Amino acid sequence: MMQLQRANNVADLRTQARRKLPHPIFEYLEGGADDEVSLSRNSAAFRELELLPDVLVDVSSVRTETTIFGQPCRWPLMLSPTGLTRMFHGHAELAVARAAARHGLPYCLSTMGTTRLEELGQAGSGPKLFQIYIFKDRGLTAEFVARCKDAGYHGLVLTVDTPVAGNRERDRASGLSLPPRLTLSSLLSFALHPSWSLQALTGSKFDLANVSHRVDALAAGPMSLFDYIGGQFDRAVTWRDLEWLAAEWNGPLAIKGVMTPADAEQSINCGATGVILSNHGGRQLDGAPAPADQISAVRARIGDGPDVICDGGVRRGSDVVKALALGATACSIGRPYIYGLAAGGEAGVDRVLSLLFEEFERTMTLAGVPDIAALGQRHVRRRS
Ligand SMILES: Cc1cc2nc3c(=O)[nH]c(=O)nc-3n(C[C@H](O)[C@H](O)[C@H](O)COP(=O)(O)O)c2cc1C
Repeated sequence: MMQLQRANNVADLRTQARRKLPHPIFEYLEGGADDEVSLSRNSAAFRELELLPDVLVDVSSVRTETTIFGQPCRWPLMLSPTGLTRMFHGHAELAVARAAARHGLPYCLSTMGTTRLEELGQAGSGPKLFQIYIFKDRGLTAEFVARCKDAGYHGLVLTVDTPVAGNRERDRASGLSLPPRLTLSSLLSFALHPSWSLQALTGSKFDLANVSHRVDALAAGPMSLFDYIGGQFDRAVTWRDLEWLAAEWNGPLAIKGVMTPADAEQSINCGATGVILSNHGGRQLDGAPAPADQISAVRARIGDGPDVICDGGVRRGSDVVKALALGATACSIGRPYIYGLAAGGEAGVDRVLSLLFEEFERTMTLAGVPDIAALGQRHVRRRS
């Protein structure tokens, strides 16, 4: 607890997470594809933006409430889906969902999560989203839709940037395997992180809880993540499949991994209610633009109605202010909440969400904008 309170920002929590996690696990969290160009640009794009404040405005209170996926939220932030969350802390997705609910923020469970969606549906009272893939076996996707309806999920997120797994060389260099297991080369790192290793050995079974009943191959023993993804993911998914999914679900649906105005428009035309501008945290197509750089053009093309979420590179509350000024509905974070989770479980996620909210509110106050609805293009400028 004391340790968490000493963290002043996301970067401090990252340092704490790095100390807690065995090297291959931290590398899995941090890594991007190929040369990690997109990964580094995601955050750099925010640093290239300047905020132009209004002065002599009454900012004695700041209105931050909004809606995402039609659900009321305390401020414009959501928590992105991350697979294999149990690798970072034994309390896994449940800890994240409970903290998100306390902060009035939506949390999106990954298909590749380690907690059953039904169990998560009962954790906390916050808006719940499920990240779905269109698998080769459309029956599995349809089964997820039915399960999400039964469990009371508020929205679906269809990830479309993973026809194959990105080339994450850090995972190969560190010898990551699924589930994590002791290898000769990782032994020292696991031994140096006894609290993590103890939790991994004694905690609940490491399982892709939502797909393992269908994935017979996993039962055959540890296999590499790359083999697993390669076998299940469908490279032949097209817009027709999106239309099918939208009709099947018939509720709030965002497409995650959209990058261009044309694809954002087509997403909406095919039945999505929003888009998540994302390059998967730089983990898939290296060379893809930073989501923050695509906001204005996408918003201009699809108008005010649909949700436009900026996902990737957010490390400060001020980044969210910038994204909103450019036209985003909200931002989404992945690694930052995992840093908190790894550093201190549910309390660690609480800490990161509190820090980001304080930064967001303070930035709004300093920028002289008392209501997020009043943020606009005139508040932000790209450094020339
Ligand atoms: C460890 C990890 C696992 C992830 N797993 C998934 C996943 O299962 N599905 C998905 O759509 N995106 C996944 N992502 C991508 C995130 O949803 C999100 O797009 C990304 O983390 C945003 O960038 P940020 O980490 O800079 O915030 C994962 C990201 C990380 C870091």
